[in-house]
Amino acid sequence: MDILILAAGLGTRMKSSEPKVLHKIFDKPIIDYVIDCARSLNPRKVYVVLNPSVGKVVEYLKNRDVEIVFQYEPRGTAHAVKSSLSMLNSKSVLILNGDTPLIKKDTLFDFIRVFRENDLDLAVLSFYPEREHSYGRIIRDKNKKVLKIVEVTDLSDNELSIFKEANSGVYLAKRKVLDLVEEIKENPNKKEYYLTDIVEIATKRGYKVEAFSLANEDELLGINTREELSLAMKYIRDRVIKEWMEKGVTFYDPESVWISPSVKIGNDSVIYPGVFLEGDTSIGQRCFIYQGVRIRDSIIEDNVEIKDCSVVESSHIKSGSKIGPFTHIRPGSVIGKECRIGNFVEVKKSVIGDGTKAAHLSYLGDSEVGKNVNIGAGTITCNYDGKKKHKTTIEDDVFIGSDTQLVAPVRIGRGSYIGAGSTITKDVPPDALSISRTPQKNIEGWARKKREKQ
Ligand code: UD1
Ligand code: CA
Repeated sequence: MDILILAAGLGTRMKSSEPKVLHKIFDKPIIDYVIDCARSLNPRKVYVVLNPSVGKVVEYLKNRDVEIVFQYEPRGTAHAVKSSLSMLNSKSVLILNGDTPLIKKDTLFDFIRVFRENDLDLAVLSFYPEREHSYGRIIRDKNKKVLKIVEVTDLSDNELSIFKEANSGVYLAKRKVLDLVEEIKENPNKKEYYLTDIVEIATKRGYKVEAFSLANEDELLGINTREELSLAMKYIRDRVIKEWMEKGVTFYDPESVWISPSVKIGNDSVIYPGVFLEGDTSIGQRCFIYQGVRIRDSIIEDNVEIKDCSVVESSHIKSGSKIGPFTHIRPGSVIGKECRIGNFVEVKKSVIGDGTKAAHLSYLGDSEVGKNVNIGAGTITCNYDGKKKHKTTIEDDVFIGSDTQLVAPVRIGRGSYIGAGSTITKDVPPDALSISRTPQKNIEGWARKKREKQ
């Protein structure tokens, strides 16, 4: 079997400068969902029909394991199939729409099975949508025999109320049946060649044609508009969260949480409302992820708490640490075990040792911080001189007093103390006290004299 994915339409209903099939559902473009599903069936080849003028899609698919076929003008789905005929030479062909990304492998397996069991020439995967929609309708006669497929724009209101079975755009055909696309005429309404018309032609020629309703609307959703794109996201979100609940994760309000299908979560973790978990993220067991947190491409080990409104990107947080509220952990950071990174602390490309605390209002950039260090409130690593970034090293057991500036490159030796309010520009040896601030001077009676003068 070959698989043919139709993706050469212009997707005008998206009203976008971005090609429709490259719009993303979570982290993955629409077309990739369809290709991944197609590949999982182990076909002989996967062909994708593209419009060569949409170079971005052509470029994007160059590195995927698919054969690209060009349909030079977007003249309809039948025309797209016609453009590919010379390439297709397997016994049967499964046709998928490039804009129907939620379809499951198991459904396609069932579809292929019934096609073979009934020794059919052409089969259509149908469904019964509940929401208002514009899918083509399967027209059957009194004996339920499939006659044809008609698009909504070519049906009367009365016919629309009778024929509820919708066409998903998934077809399986013996290769020779596909030659009938040559006979399809242009639709007078839309001036396009409709692949759906092949059903009527094949039926009239005496081929064995059937339609099977094997899945529901969440799976066969075709994305034509932004509304349908958002529906697709919701359907995937619901699938993903349901799975994690089954595996022992608690959600306060599943409808407000967005978790990419690639994310992993350990059991007994608790996810509060408004959380976004994206990309290659894994969350350990017994973690608490509080409201409004966004985590992308990060590893969060067991027993970690990430409090409200924090952002973690491309970083690793080791077990037992507490992050937030309002903390920003930027790419390339590693936070050790049992650390505490608190309110309004920004950490960038820094490694923080076990048991270290930076509880309030700090910036730690390009730094290496040892174990059991205390970073006082308002500590800033001055890592940028306007041209280059420099490194700050803070060894184990150091105590940095509040409102300290560490002008990098600089090293603070093991066990030393920095007095509050210091600007440290030179290395500090181990076990020292370093202090750099103007000594305090009290001028007695100064204010009284000022008042008396007035
Ligand atoms: C199509 C079906 C409709 C079905 C629905 C399922 C036709 C005429 N109608 O409608 O019965 O209910 O899918 O989602 O087939 N494409 C090309 N070349 C073209 C035009 C389209 O490759 O010239 C591709 C598109 O990129 C898309 C797919 O074919 O992936 C379907 O085209 P689209 O315009 O979205 O058809 P629908 O109106 O959704
Ligand atoms: Ca469509």
